[in-house]
Amino acid sequence: MNLTSTNTNSLNGEIICPGDKSISQRILILGSLLNCDMEISGFLDANDPNSTLNALNEIGASIKKSGSKVILCKRELPFIKPSQNLDLGNSGTGMRLMIGLISGLGINATLVGDSSLSKRPMSRVIKPLKEMGAKIQSNEGKSPIEIIESNISSEFEYKMPIASAQVKSSLILASLSSNNSITIIEPKITRDHTERMIEYFGGSVTHSNDESGRITVDNSKLTSKDSYEIVGDFSSAAFVIVATLISKESKVVIKNVGLNPSRCGLLEILVLMGANIEIRNQKIICNEESGDIFVKSSYLNGIDVPEDIIPNIIDEIPILSIAASFAKGTTSIKNASELRVKESDRLEAISDGLKKLNIRHETFEDGISITGTNNLIAVDEEINSFDDHRIAMSFLVAGIRSVNNIKVRNCKNIETSFPGFKDIMNSIGMKIDEKN
Ligand code: S3P
Repeated sequence: MNLTSTNTNSLNGEIICPGDKSISQRILILGSLLNCDMEISGFLDANDPNSTLNALNEIGASIKKSGSKVILCKRELPFIKPSQNLDLGNSGTGMRLMIGLISGLGINATLVGDSSLSKRPMSRVIKPLKEMGAKIQSNEGKSPIEIIESNISSEFEYKMPIASAQVKSSLILASLSSNNSITIIEPKITRDHTERMIEYFGGSVTHSNDESGRITVDNSKLTSKDSYEIVGDFSSAAFVIVATLISKESKVVIKNVGLNPSRCGLLEILVLMGANIEIRNQKIICNEESGDIFVKSSYLNGIDVPEDIIPNIIDEIPILSIAASFAKGTTSIKNASELRVKESDRLEAISDGLKKLNIRHETFEDGISITGTNNLIAVDEEINSFDDHRIAMSFLVAGIRSVNNIKVRNCKNIETSFPGFKDIMNSIGMKIDEKN
C-alpha cells in the first residue's frame, strides 16, 4: 500500500491517543503469568501486540478480544509446548520478551518472525539467558530461535553492554517466570514499563540510590487485579505533535498520552528547539503517568541532542528528523547506533528519504546531522519506507511542508503500531490518501 500526503495549511482539533504498544505487549505477558481473570482497556489492536497475543495463546494462555477490551481468563492448566512455531511477525519486543518468558517457563518452543525480524539481532538476549541457564539455539544469533526446556539459575546479576529495555525486560521475565530474583545494571535509563507493571501488581523492584543503574527484581508473589488500563502511546502522539509544530496556524490537543519520563524525552528536545507544548490534566493510571498534550505551530531551532537522552527518544528519532528538517540551523543526533538494528536501518532510511526531500544532512555510524529549511520542499521521487512503520509515518508528516505532495511507498507496516494513523491525521486536517 502506497500513501500520498498532500500539503496542508493548518491542523486543528482534538484526538485520543491510541494505546501504548510496549505496555499492551507487557500486560498480555505479565497478565498471563499472573493467571487471573482480568479486563484490559486501551489495548493497542495492532499487528505487533496481536502477534504477542496469539503466541501467548499458543502456549496455553487464554486471551480474548471483546469489543474494545481484551479479556484475560484464568488458565486451568500449566503453560504448554506450542503445537506450531510462534510467529512474532514484525515485533522485536514481542520476540525478545517471549524468548525471556518461555526460557523461564521451561517449555520447548520455536519462535519465528517476518523478513525484517529475521534479520534483527537476538544474541543480545540469548547470551545472557544462556548464562542464566537457558538452552537456546538460533540461526547465528537470529531467528528461528529454538528454546529447549531448561532451568534458570537464581540471583543472576547482569551488566547490560547496551541500553535496551527489551533486553532488560526479557531477563526480568525469565527470572519472574522461573520464580527467581535478578539484578540488572543498565548503562543508561531505558523505558521501565516492565518494572512499573511488576510494582503495580505488588512485586518488589529496588533501584540503587546512586548512579549505577542497578535494578533488582525480587522473587515475590504478584497479586492479581481484575482490570488494567493502558495509557496512550507517546511514540504515536509524536507524529501528531511534530505535524502540528511544522504546520502553520495549528493547534491540536492529544488526550490521554503516556508520559512516562523514560519514554517522552522528545518533549524535552522539542521544547529546547522552541516548541510550544503544554501538558495538562496529568494523572497516574496503573502506575504510569499520563496527560493531555496541547501543541501549537512553532518556529523550531536546531540543537545538539544530548547523548544521554537517546534511549528515551530512540523510537522518535525518525520523526525528530522531520522536525529538524524544518528547523532553523542544524540538529545533531549522536550515540544512536541502535537505530541501525530497528525495523530497518533507520539512519540509512532517514538519510535516503531526506535526500529525496533535498534536505541537507550528514550521516555518521552512530547518528545524523540535519540542516533545516524554511522553504516548502519540492519532492519528485517516491520515498521508500523500507517496510518500516515509523519511517513511513515520518515522511508522510513531511508532506505538510511539500510544494505539492509526498508519496511514500509500502506503508502497510503502519498497522504494526498505529492502525488508525491515516484517519486520525486526516481528522485534524492532514490530507493522506491511498494512491497507486
Ligand atoms: C521497546 C524498547 C525499545 C524500542 C522498541 C520497544 C520495548 O527497544 O525501540 O520499539 O517495548 O521494550 P530497545 O530497548 O531494544 O532499544
